[in-house]
Amino acid sequence: HRFHKDLPKAKVWGYNGLVPGPTFEVKKDEDIYVKWQNKLPLKHFLPVDTTIHGAMDTPEVRTVVHLHGSPSEPASDGHPEAWFTRNYKVTGSHFEKKIYHYTNAMRATNLWYHDHALGITRLNVYAGLAGMYFIRDEKEKSLRLPKGKYEVPLVVVDRSFNPDGSLFYPSQPRNPSPDLPNPSIVPAFFGDTVTVNGKVWPFLKVEPRKYRFRLLNASNTRTYKFQFSNNMPFFLIGTDGGLLARPIQVSSLDVSPAERIDIVVDFSQLKGQNVVLQDGFELDSEIGNIMQFKVAKELCAPDRSQVPEHLSTLPPIPLDQVRKIRRITLNDSEDEYGRLMLLFDDKTWSDHPTETPLIGSVEIWELVNQTPGIHPIHIHLVDFRIIGRFDAQGNKLPPLPADFGIKDTVLVDANQTVRLIMKFQPYCGDYVWHCHRLEHEDHDMMRPLIVR
Ligand code: C2O
Ligand code: CU
Ligand code: CU
Repeated sequence: HRFHKDLPKAKVWGYNGLVPGPTFEVKKDEDIYVKWQNKLPLKHFLPVDTTIHGAMDTPEVRTVVHLHGSPSEPASDGHPEAWFTRNYKVTGSHFEKKIYHYTNAMRATNLWYHDHALGITRLNVYAGLAGMYFIRDEKEKSLRLPKGKYEVPLVVVDRSFNPDGSLFYPSQPRNPSPDLPNPSIVPAFFGDTVTVNGKVWPFLKVEPRKYRFRLLNASNTRTYKFQFSNNMPFFLIGTDGGLLARPIQVSSLDVSPAERIDIVVDFSQLKGQNVVLQDGFELDSEIGNIMQFKVAKELCAPDRSQVPEHLSTLPPIPLDQVRKIRRITLNDSEDEYGRLMLLFDDKTWSDHPTETPLIGSVEIWELVNQTPGIHPIHIHLVDFRIIGRFDAQGNKLPPLPADFGIKDTVLVDANQTVRLIMKFQPYCGDYVWHCHRLEHEDHDMMRPLIVR
């Protein structure tokens, strides 16, 4: 049944026992230290693939936490090889109790944190290891955007369930080879059920007024086209890196894995009605309906919130400081078992590092997608701006609404080329960049990023 309240419960893994994990609320420039401890069981409850990078480093369940979108120092970034297990002890408590430092030296925005352990990220995040992280600042506060109970985080994840209610993750590749020891790596995972904040088909009772939704696509593979069942317009006010300069009125938004959108939706004309948040790509199927808003509550107090014409001032795009232009292809390949694998420039995780920018330098990266699929590309340490989209013939394409904002993950559509510009600061050291379709990230669409 749609929007049912009492579906069976599934086993999940959470931070502090919660899925999504507890929401962080921090102030800009507030230093915080977080102790991450691995109390996961010793064995995974989802099918681990033993044939891919990292997966056999230990049979125990490994985890490491990455704060996505944050310029963290290398030792606190959650490098995929900095994982730790429940019992793992190297030098004293170094790995057992991992204390990470987050400086929050960035404008107000909505980050998220999630597992990043090499070769099993797709399974750990799918199991529930993800949570929201808000950075607040004074400028944003002065804007009178909807706040308090009128500002709602929405973490959208598609999942599938076995008949007994437990989580399902596929364990068959496209062309299983008889030599394959324990196949579970698949090139994509699309769940048949969408969850919001860990619930299947939920509803939210709202007042007839404006709401601000901080929406995160934490799905493994799925890109959504978010829209409402009555086709009402709404405002995009912010992206991965915080508020836009000006609000953009839209009627739908494409959001790929790891992207966040900050939107304001006005229910004031819908008193007594229901409206459904939908996936415009799936309108013919059951999962096209994501969650329901019931405009059933009375207005508590007059709605004095607003969507100001001017939201923020974005830093200028440093086109005049570009030191290097890299052209990198996104391509298909096959692994030794004949399974599809996705790569950058035909290189795997263990090939010699090639993205080694100098600290403080500005680079343009031209991502050339030679595949028929969407790849949400994410770069650690930096924020970037999107300065062009082109089709396979090199014709300039119109920007997506989110392209006007500060981004850390960019949707690169099938056979498109996207140009990014960024400045590598404020730390040197070992980072990574990767596709955020987690099945791609694990096999092997992830490369070192070494800032020198
Ligand atoms: Cu959201 Cu490297 O990850
Ligand atoms: Cu990241
Ligand atoms: Cu990809």
